[in-house]
Amino acid sequence: MANHLNVFEGPAAVRDLLDPGRLPYLPLVELPAELNPFAGDKVRIFAKLMTLSPLGNVKAVPAFNMIAEMHRRGELAGVRRIVENSSGNTVSSLALVGRQFGVDETKSYVSAEISWHKLLMLLFFGVEPMVNVEPANPSETDPESGIYKAKKDGESEEALNPGQYDNEDNPKAHEKWTAQQIWEQTGGDINIFCAGLGTTGTVIGNSRFLKGKKPSLRVVGVMRAPDNYVPGVRTEKLLKLIGFDWHKHVDVIERIETADSYRLSLDMSRRGIIVGPSSGFALAGLLQYLGDLKGKNALDEVRDEESGDVVCVFPCPDGPMPYLDEYFKYLDGSHFPPIRNEAALLNRP
Ligand SMILES: Cc1ncc(COP(=O)(O)O)c(C=O)c1O
Repeated sequence: MANHLNVFEGPAAVRDLLDPGRLPYLPLVELPAELNPFAGDKVRIFAKLMTLSPLGNVKAVPAFNMIAEMHRRGELAGVRRIVENSSGNTVSSLALVGRQFGVDETKSYVSAEISWHKLLMLLFFGVEPMVNVEPANPSETDPESGIYKAKKDGESEEALNPGQYDNEDNPKAHEKWTAQQIWEQTGGDINIFCAGLGTTGTVIGNSRFLKGKKPSLRVVGVMRAPDNYVPGVRTEKLLKLIGFDWHKHVDVIERIETADSYRLSLDMSRRGIIVGPSSGFALAGLLQYLGDLKGKNALDEVRDEESGDVVCVFPCPDGPMPYLDEYFKYLDGSHFPPIRNEAALLNRP
């Protein structure tokens, strides 16, 4: 059956549905001028909607690759349980992909800062969460860190820790699927790639592939400003836990705060690009970088000579729904319409 009809059938139908290589390309959508303050400077900004994968988040891509590669190498034989340290998306993706490969149980170390709805999401998907209070100055080998604990648990005979923080099949997944798609979808006309830094798999995989095709591409990595919460991405301090050499793949670093991330996510969602806080975060980092270039009269340095455009792409890792209550915590009431006759409500938190 031709894949463009988007039909999955037969005994492997669900496994095929979860395979990023068998799906139609995820949409690449240009932001309207209302969301692009640099539209008048011939800057074009495209969102890559990882949210529209069947698992609803970016981690569907590395989760499938990590599990499929372990399966191919025969490492899943006798494994009953997947253990990972995760902010939620990776482990729910691992659980759903894992079941397609015969591993039914999944357990996750989750940070104490996890959102309540994200925690409910784990329970919904049948993932067992273990709340872990991370050390104040975490390091990869600190026995109190969730990464270390998941690694240790993964050493037992029936368990396996994919280890998204240093497993090469994480960035490789983006290299072979996400970046390949972006390259084809832009016809190679891409000047800036910008992504938030979590495990850094997205930025490394895309940077490797896209810079390999176009060495002049600028890669912007976005990190959380110190003490600012945004789910799925890290502060400089928390990035010390990552085993990858992500610095080598990033040209510029931007630091972004919580409220700006939630506000831009809300703005995009209200214009039909329904994306979560770390998508607003990536866009905020990109806009900060563009503002910096414009301030230095340096936009022409990145402009495409032929078209005269600056084409930017940023992936949107997930949607807003698991964090809905947080928008009301981090944005003030002026962002929302009032509820009329609120006193009559029967179900209130
Ligand atoms: C919501 C969200 N945003 C961003 C990221 C960062 O992506 P990466 O881990 O590829 O750096 C993640 C990763 O877990 C995520 O869950």
